[in-house]
Amino acid sequence: MQTRRFPSRIGEINTPEPPLRTVVVGYGYWGPNLVRNVMERPEFELVALCERDLARGQAFSAKVPNVPVIDDLEMILDDDTIDALIVATPPHTHHAICKAALLAGKHVLVEKPLATTTLDALDLVDTANTRDVLLMPGHTFLYSPPVAKVRQLIDRDVLGDMYFVTSARMNLGKYQKDGVICDLAPHDLSILLHWLEEPIVQVAAHGRSVFQSGVPETAFLTVTFAGGTTANIELSWLAPRKVRQMVVVGSRRMVQYDDTAGDEAIRIYDRGMEFETPENFGEYQLTYRSGDIVAPRLEPAEPLSLELQDFARCIRTGATPRSHAYLGLEVVAAMEAAQESLMRGGVPVAVAGISERAVA
Ligand SMILES: NC(=O)c1ccc[n+]([C@@H]2O[C@H](COP(=O)([O-])OP(=O)(O)OC[C@H]3O[C@@H](n4cnc5c(N)ncnc54)[C@H](O)[C@@H]3O)[C@@H](O)[C@H]2O)c1
Repeated sequence: MQTRRFPSRIGEINTPEPPLRTVVVGYGYWGPNLVRNVMERPEFELVALCERDLARGQAFSAKVPNVPVIDDLEMILDDDTIDALIVATPPHTHHAICKAALLAGKHVLVEKPLATTTLDALDLVDTANTRDVLLMPGHTFLYSPPVAKVRQLIDRDVLGDMYFVTSARMNLGKYQKDGVICDLAPHDLSILLHWLEEPIVQVAAHGRSVFQSGVPETAFLTVTFAGGTTANIELSWLAPRKVRQMVVVGSRRMVQYDDTAGDEAIRIYDRGMEFETPENFGEYQLTYRSGDIVAPRLEPAEPLSLELQDFARCIRTGATPRSHAYLGLEVVAAMEAAQESLMRGGVPVAVAGISERAVA
């Protein structure tokens, strides 16, 4: 016999939650991607764009004529019907915009990096906690299927001990006054923090500012994690072609992640070296392992859409997003240490122990 379940209260009959009334701030290079995804996701209603540049505002209106452009952030913050802000303005503006939004009781998703200094990032985290609203940094790569696959391999102990990671993130990039470290390092740092789930203790950096002093176009970072894993990260806006490659070397498997390689972005190599400690001096045994190479199937998904889904889910449930504020804070602290090391000729700089980690 088929049993029928009846809702105990009228309110339980399929009452979908109303969409989160959302404003996107900034419609430059990245803002249009956020606008498109906000409009596509059912959890959100795009109620306005906040943009100060007239031409950018007109470009938005040509595409989305039924949504107003407002240049005054205060007007938006004074509107109690607005639930959330998604901020895609340049990094040096993040602290002021996000602080005002959090103080006004809005949930905030802010593009990477959370802020440009650790003090500013800490201030945002504290403000969000005090006002009991969600602050989420937009570390989009954490939602990309290849990054999630590597995290799964680590969780299932397929890779073994994580010895080191090398990363190259290069192209003929968009020159920005915040410098290449601020632009590109948040991607590698957030991915590594998500994979390893341990704090960064030290960063050393070298680099080159070809056109303007203090604005490096190229930087080489060496990052040390608490568990001993090291990562070498090469960042550049001055490169002949686009390279987005990370190699993870573990004791059991090695992984190559090439973000430009489509559905073969991940290759798992059964390769390595076994070293047996000698019983007698000089009689060590070294064997090489060279087994299969596997390219696992990856679910096709747009990372930005999954990121927005996580933002909405966490606003509604109070859960911690995958790209959480403490991870964003650690990214900023490591980025700041890299910038300090660069200015001091590459000396290793300790990353202060800010890691009050709130992993979901
Ligand atoms: N997740 C990613 O892969 C990714 C990729 C690119 C950029 N980003 C991030 O997106 C953010 C924006 O980068 P971008 O390259 O689009 O910058 P951009 O300079 O191209 O655009 C920024 C826009 O913000 C507007 N703006 C600035 N201050 C404002 C204010 N107070 N109120 C309203 N509008 C304001 C500007 O007029 C401009 O149109 C940065 O934090 C960047 O790091 C993320």
